Amino acid sequence: MIGLFDSGIGGLTVVRALLQKYPNVNFIYLGDTARFPYGNKSKETVERYAVEDAKFVIDKGAKMVIVACNTASSLAMEKLRKTYPGIPFVGVIEPAAKMAVQVSNKSIGVIGTRATVGSGIYDTVIHSLKPQIKVQQKACPLFVPLVEEGMFSDQITKIMVRRYLTSLRQANVESLVLGCTHYPFLQPLLQRFMGNKVNVINSAEAVVQEANDLYPDLFLETPDIHQKIAFTDTSAYNDDLAMRWLGKRVEIISV
Ligand code: DGL
Repeated sequence: MIGLFDSGIGGLTVVRALLQKYPNVNFIYLGDTARFPYGNKSKETVERYAVEDAKFVIDKGAKMVIVACNTASSLAMEKLRKTYPGIPFVGVIEPAAKMAVQVSNKSIGVIGTRATVGSGIYDTVIHSLKPQIKVQQKACPLFVPLVEEGMFSDQITKIMVRRYLTSLRQANVESLVLGCTHYPFLQPLLQRFMGNKVNVINSAEAVVQEANDLYPDLFLETPDIHQKIAFTDTSAYNDDLAMRWLGKRVEIISV
């Protein structure tokens, strides 16, 4: 069983990539909708939430945990690994940074929550891979609530895309890292605004690949399939959105 968690529905972008490659994989996903967003909280709070989220999926049988949240991947990986030394954790930052440097030579734009951008982690990881590259970051705090509301292409979302991304478009970045797992819901809008020459990087597939490299046994087909999703605050809307986004029925369990 693979465990995944996020502050809300964002990590379902990673679940979707997981199911596209391994339709019969066993997984348990937790969206902490009762406490989202994480992106404007302190390191201590995000660490505490991440440890509790991981406990939930581990108690349900997860043998590996994909931290399907950039904010938790930026702030809480060390704490998670210390708290659960027997469990491998896969974060979303390195796979995204690697993808971006593969297709960029001069400049990369990174968008994320305030916490992710403030941590400077993308800057550090990208420069460790390609020191000469210019990294321009932009926090886009309103994207997460817009996505949680399902406003993927509404007028208000378009206004916010223009407001947040104009400076990156003017800077002619070669690629744009979606440094928040909620943002792939807005990918068509973001790609259209940035133009076709810009590589918009959604790391979900690379994250799944990294998890598979780390623990291939968990991806083997088993006779009984368990695919479960839980939200810390129940809402029929989230359940419905999860099914539509994943394109299949999965079991919704309570926390
Ligand atoms: N989806 C998350 C991320 O990747 C968290 C967003 C939030 O809760 O602010 O950062």
